[in-house]
Amino acid sequence: MKVVVTGGAGFIGGNFVHYMLNKYSDYKIICLDALTYAGNMDTLTNIMNNKNFKFIKGDISDRKLVYNLFEDEKPDIIVNFAAESHVDRSIENPEIFLKNNIIGTSVLMDACIKYGVTRYHQVSTDEVYGDLPLNRPDLLFTEETPIRTSSPYSSSKASADLIVQAYHKTYGLPVTISRCSNNYGPYHFPEKLIPLMIVNAINDKPLPIYGTGENVRDWLYVKDHCSAIDLIIHNGRVGEVYNIGGHNERTNLQVVETIIKEIGKGKIIFVEDRKGHDMRYAIDSTKIHNELGWLPTTAFDEGIKKTIKWYIDNKPWWENIINGEYQNYYEKMYGK
Ligand code: NAD
Ligand code: TYD
Repeated sequence: MKVVVTGGAGFIGGNFVHYMLNKYSDYKIICLDALTYAGNMDTLTNIMNNKNFKFIKGDISDRKLVYNLFEDEKPDIIVNFAAESHVDRSIENPEIFLKNNIIGTSVLMDACIKYGVTRYHQVSTDEVYGDLPLNRPDLLFTEETPIRTSSPYSSSKASADLIVQAYHKTYGLPVTISRCSNNYGPYHFPEKLIPLMIVNAINDKPLPIYGTGENVRDWLYVKDHCSAIDLIIHNGRVGEVYNIGGHNERTNLQVVETIIKEIGKGKIIFVEDRKGHDMRYAIDSTKIHNELGWLPTTAFDEGIKKTIKWYIDNKPWWENIINGEYQNYYEKMYGK
């Protein structure tokens, strides 16, 4: 089996590449990644010499390059992680989200139709469902929840999902879509809440919480996300959407306080709230449990300890990031 993983130099894609190479010794994994600011070859260093792995630098919206790749490699399965993924950046500069997340997805699917694949899998997000109120803990996102996006990021992901469903209905492309809650774990770019707070606490920098910190996210350890996608691409029903969630709801304040407690230091500061800030995300993953037997195996208290340990043990990985171009973004966002 030959699997093309797009965005495999990023956080979840990188974890997925490692997961697949470990699990399937007879699979060839090809990573296609444009190496944007979020792509990091250091995430792939220890597998670059693996005979079952190949890295190709390229943009999923580059039709010629994508077609050449399909022509040369004739992949069976495509798993599309490649995307601009940060809400705050989408508020600053929406356009690149439209190009990478929507056009890029359509180019990949055109290639799938032209060359034929057994499965195209789109990695989407629970953010396409908008948000839930804090005073209704009984409410969860199901696959039937209407699309109701908030940010340019979530709107671009929802648009991509609709195009994927259209390619299934119109051209019969064998697609699946997964919509996942917030991931955390190794190789997470330190602009997102959990890695940013870990790195700042270690470096004695303030921990900036937007607004009052009451917003709730449902945290999923990244390896559990990988195992869910593995099940969907092999056994999921074509044309279906599967929600993936951690059953680990926490307020941002609770998350940051846990990190401070584990690291033994860290000073919270409350900063201006994000524009259009979603209050609460929470996933009902009954469908993937009933159909494919998937359940998350890592509780938040265990996952956060493992994650903090990884960041302590792998300082050079994130020091290279925070000492580079990312510094300019950080100054712009948090400087004042
Ligand atoms: P990330 O930002 O860490 O990584 C994205 C990767 O995609 C990078 O390696 C980048 O270089 C690459 N990329 C971006 N645009 C590209 C393009 N046009 N062509 C080729 N490569 C390109 O993102 P992540 O957190 O790993 O998220 C991966 C996917 O999962 C995204 O589609 C995101 O929407 C989705 N998702 C993420 C989360 C989360 O909590 N991080 C939750 C649900 C869904
Ligand atoms: P983030 O990791 O950006 O993921 P998403 O916006 O996709 O959920 O943010 C998670 C939560 O943490 C979100 O409610 C915004 C908040 N947040 C902060 O309070 N401070 C920060 O510096 C960042 C990056 C996020």
